[in-house]
Amino acid sequence: MASEVRTERELSLDFLRVTEAAAIAAARTMGQGDRKYSDQVAVEAMREVMDSVPMRGRVVIGEGERDEAPMLYIGEEVGGGFGVGEEMAASCPEVDIAVDPLEGTNLCALGANNAIAVLAAAERGGLLHAPDIYMDKIVVGPSSRGVIDIDAPVKENLKNIARRLGRDIEDLTVIVLDRKRHKKIIDDVRAAGARIRLISDGDLSAGISAAVAGTNIHACIGIGGAPEGVLTAAAVKCLNGEIQARLVFDPERLGVDRDKVPAEKEVIERLKSMGITDPNKVYDTDDLAPGKKIIFAATGVTDGSLMRGVRFFGSGKRTHSMVMTSESKHIRFVDSIHIEGGPDTVIRF
Ligand code: FBP
Repeated sequence: MASEVRTERELSLDFLRVTEAAAIAAARTMGQGDRKYSDQVAVEAMREVMDSVPMRGRVVIGEGERDEAPMLYIGEEVGGGFGVGEEMAASCPEVDIAVDPLEGTNLCALGANNAIAVLAAAERGGLLHAPDIYMDKIVVGPSSRGVIDIDAPVKENLKNIARRLGRDIEDLTVIVLDRKRHKKIIDDVRAAGARIRLISDGDLSAGISAAVAGTNIHACIGIGGAPEGVLTAAAVKCLNGEIQARLVFDPERLGVDRDKVPAEKEVIERLKSMGITDPNKVYDTDDLAPGKKIIFAATGVTDGSLMRGVRFFGSGKRTHSMVMTSESKHIRFVDSIHIEGGPDTVIRF
């Protein structure tokens, strides 16, 4: 009898194991002050578990180009569906994978809040192959979908978000990465009267918070990584929120000297080679994550607003994750206990 093709639901639980493994490995290094090492162990743990997933995966957003990353590089084939018999391969769906094994490397290295391990997957072509450059973004939740405009003044966006949420601008909280390049955004949010949470890192988990009601975060605005933008779009799509984004490589907008970033001509050529012919295009959620069958999994490394960090308790560890599917529309918050001790291990609620 031919084996069944792995379903979206089964795959989502497989991906949960992948982000749990990365988070546990990274969390062991929390506070050690070595962000590169924290990232490395997360990458290795994620890569190892990935091959136990019955899929034919292809990394579209990962740790960099093939020649600069030993594993989880762009184009790498991952999953247990390669080098196996035809029948087995047929049961392993072809998926595109975007990963950030440790989002917030500094946060983990310092033991600060909101470091997470992340993976998004979709059918082939379901996630934009974004270059590893900067991206301007605005992210909101379902109530504010349709009223934001990345080109509108900050005050206008905040006015529209406040109206949709039935409150005053003064009652909104906006997350912004604390960077020199965001001086104008920060000034504009303050002038509009909204509250700001300035964060040192982690605009992906910030974007997810903005898309979930009850976090008291109503928007995430500013320039962060483009790969993080695609991962945010995958999450936001599952959560019915909205992201608008645009690639940024103009040194003036980034607030850096010209010699600190690749020349604009060079970037435009690179974008062209990746199939991006309009470098100024405004991307919406579906442009960044066009897939119909998106799966998004994230596990807390350190404590955060949506997920707790990994807790170690001698005879095991406990992880907190979110796993979401865009087609079957399930949002699962998963509290896992990984037992390592013997039959006397005590399980706490
Ligand atoms: P890492 O996990 O790679 O350290 O990235 C953290 C992060 O803060 C992202 O959340 C954000 O998109 C990006 O870095 C911002 O880049 P920069 O630190 O160069 O402003």
